[in-house]
Amino acid sequence: MSEVASGAISEQEATCYRKAFPIFDHTTYLNSCSLGPLSVQAMEALTRFQDDWSRYGAPVWWKEWLGKIAGAKSRFAALIGAQPHEVTVSHSVSSALASVAGTFDYRRRPAVICADLDFPTIPYQWLGRSREVELRYARSEDRIRVPLDAYRAHMDGSVALIATSHTFYTTGHIQPVRELADLVHAHGGRLVVDGYHAVGVHPVDVKALDVDFYVGGTLKWLLGGPGLTFIYVREELIPELQPQSSGWFASGDQFAFDAMHLDLAPSADRLQLGTPAVATAYAGVAGMDMILEAGPERIYGRIQMLTDRLVERAQSAGYGILSPLEAGERGGIVMLQVAEPQRTVENLADRGFTVDYRPGLVRVSPHFYNTMDDVDGLMDALAEVQRSLLSR
Ligand SMILES: Cc1ncc(COP(=O)(O)O)c(C=O)c1O
Repeated sequence: MSEVASGAISEQEATCYRKAFPIFDHTTYLNSCSLGPLSVQAMEALTRFQDDWSRYGAPVWWKEWLGKIAGAKSRFAALIGAQPHEVTVSHSVSSALASVAGTFDYRRRPAVICADLDFPTIPYQWLGRSREVELRYARSEDRIRVPLDAYRAHMDGSVALIATSHTFYTTGHIQPVRELADLVHAHGGRLVVDGYHAVGVHPVDVKALDVDFYVGGTLKWLLGGPGLTFIYVREELIPELQPQSSGWFASGDQFAFDAMHLDLAPSADRLQLGTPAVATAYAGVAGMDMILEAGPERIYGRIQMLTDRLVERAQSAGYGILSPLEAGERGGIVMLQVAEPQRTVENLADRGFTVDYRPGLVRVSPHFYNTMDDVDGLMDALAEVQRSLLSR
């Protein structure tokens, strides 16, 4: 067992945590990287959202809602080691990245580097700016990770930024973000990181990583559902940020209602647009409180144990694995090469296991409430399903 795993959430604690998720009453849920399951705490928070709205009407903004948004920001900040004023909220990772992409002046530095294993919405931000941006792709050879040299090969003084994932949705590989930061900074560029599959899976410290911008959200591992994401901006960069899209929540004095001047907020809020989706902050705070209470370090220890077992079982069954074999390089995602992934996932659902598929692969993503029995049960069921599909 690795050093991290020795402080991991125990089997007994995992069994306790899962009681908060009614979905386990009818299926063994191993798909947290697509959508984190709904907890009783998040359900109660959503009920409180309705109660507050119904009780106060418009004054609910002062009495509850603005405080809830501030609470969401401070929890995001706590999860990534940032200060609250370095973090603001957005609606999706795409909108967060679009806000960030709009702060760069591409006339002097037109080049942007993304990885070919990134979730498409990352490069789309810059493909959508093809009149001013030249997008370069760092490519993977093993289809699991992108070597640092693949980024280095594209680096020169025309690069405005590298924008890539902390942990790849495709393979679960945790990228060496600090090395990427050093590389791009040495050439005078910036680093933008999508941490959707990192925050809530393994500890994240944006200061130690030396990233310039970092985005993520509550949909998956943070257990808060859709509609709430965040943008981190390194403190020193905030005063120079001039977003191309704006709104009254970006103003330093939004309730002055001054239509003649836009004085941007002196915090990361200068990247905000309009009214936040407040209901999502209620659920998001509930989800993030569970993660903070369980502790990212101990969650990561548990995820490593569970994914180690998945890898071990997959190897002995002879399935291909399109994820790192080393636990220290792997997040919460294990990709298995099996016959007929879509049909396999459907058959597994009939047997009481929820996992997901991507072209050619079955994707398994356990979280801190999963047990070794979940993994063993899944792998036994997978063997049965494969046998029956291959014998047709
Ligand atoms: C790494 C990553 N980034 C971004 C997204 C999508 O972000 P959004 O729909 O919030 O724009 C996903 C998938 O949902 C993802 O896996």
